[in-house]
Amino acid sequence: MLRDRLGIESVLDGCSPQGQCGCCTVLVDDAPRVACVTPARRVAGRQVTTAAGLSASEQQRWAEAFLSCGATQCGFCTPGIVCRLVGHERRGANLSDRTTVDKALAAHLCRCTGWQTIREAATHAAAPAERSTPAPERDQNAAARRAALETGGPQQSVPASVLGAFSFGADGAPAGTLTAVAGPSGEWHAAETLDQARRQAGKVQGRRTTLEPKPPIAIPKPPPGTEWDVQLATCWTEPGYLETDAAWCEPGANPSDPLANGGAFGGKTNSPVREEARQLATELGQPVRVLWSREDVVRRGPKRPPLAAGLRADGSGVIRIARTAGAAEALRSALPDAEIVEVDVPGPPTSMDLRAAVWAEAQMLASALNRLQSGESLDAGTSTVEMTSPAGATARATINQAGIEVKVDAGEPLDTTTLRSYVIGATHMAWSWVTSEALTVDAEGEVHDLTIRSFGIARSADTPEIEVTIQPPRQSPVPAGEAVFAAVAAATWLSRGAPAHLPTGR
Ligand code: FES
Repeated sequence: MLRDRLGIESVLDGCSPQGQCGCCTVLVDDAPRVACVTPARRVAGRQVTTAAGLSASEQQRWAEAFLSCGATQCGFCTPGIVCRLVGHERRGANLSDRTTVDKALAAHLCRCTGWQTIREAATHAAAPAERSTPAPERDQNAAARRAALETGGPQQSVPASVLGAFSFGADGAPAGTLTAVAGPSGEWHAAETLDQARRQAGKVQGRRTTLEPKPPIAIPKPPPGTEWDVQLATCWTEPGYLETDAAWCEPGANPSDPLANGGAFGGKTNSPVREEARQLATELGQPVRVLWSREDVVRRGPKRPPLAAGLRADGSGVIRIARTAGAAEALRSALPDAEIVEVDVPGPPTSMDLRAAVWAEAQMLASALNRLQSGESLDAGTSTVEMTSPAGATARATINQAGIEVKVDAGEPLDTTTLRSYVIGATHMAWSWVTSEALTVDAEGEVHDLTIRSFGIARSADTPEIEVTIQPPRQSPVPAGEAVFAAVAAATWLSRGAPAHLPTGR
């Protein structure tokens, strides 16, 4: 009702609606509520406050806290999180306490930040006067350049994005725009409101399956009487960007950009949603906004190609990988002595566009081989891995009992708060991917995990402390994300003894 009938675009929809992503959180009186599953009749006579309706001093203080800590990237999750934290603050919660903030964040998902900077922002907002040193002056242009470098598209972190006064792919369409959603067979249903379009489409709510996910490709059998020294089989995983693919278009014009503020980590590079909006606008002769549901993104959005490898310490062996343009070449260049076999795996589309796809997996295998070739074992324990990405960034990740340490050289930082934020985000993404993310897809290729919670993205409470050191720059700025992702993924996997199957479990 808030978005569709009242046009309040600061209330965001990332799960359409499953009550699971937290992006539409508002305050009902002072209590945080997920708006998408709160019937309007239940709030009759009560006060509903969105991020835009917080007091001026709350807005100013929380925007400053989020921006000074680098706690927002694409910003899609941010207004809902701010609303919830303000609700807890109004009721006297101690937001300097990690457990309290972890509990509050359990109702949310953030794919970009890795949670830590959000916890830091909560502490900062709760006690801004206690900050021992004044916040450093920041160059917003430099911050935006670093963010754009990391996301491959424009991305701004400004008070407007913290407070929801920011247009995403679905927003800003002219009055009279029809909204189109896909029906069960992929046919389009366009109507004046999203609610009407969904009713016409007969949207079936996504479910989480009780089936256990497992790697779709079997590890190749070694020749009789021999064993592989390194084995790795990956599962289907969902990139899990929070803003579902959305674009609107007027007849004869260009569609809006589904990457309005970045954040999809390559997942929307070739999204069909723009052309779908253009085509429907032409067909219907009026502006049309196309919205993918969360279920559409899981079924139609690109995934990392699953693979299964069996290797000897000298690098020979066999790697099977889901047939994907560019994947076999990426494996061959990192593991030239292995036989690469492309296989057709029924399931959602695969893509090399996702962050470090295949390159990270190849580097994980290569780092295990390096250990064996240096006479080390693959036993579990503290693990350090250093990687240099094709873009020229170097990351050194250490996993130990205390948490995760990452040292990064991504050239001139431009803005250290922004670079640190992206390093923490990529660290969380890699750690979460290796330890807990998986999507159940059956042998026929049908996806069974259709809710955002079923992707296994590690929550704030489950995420270790991440310590980032930014090394003195030796070059002009380069993106850090791929190097950090691959180094943390390899170090995490090796710290658990290089188990044959991902996810390893936490
Ligand atoms: Fe949280 Fe992008 S900043 S999902």
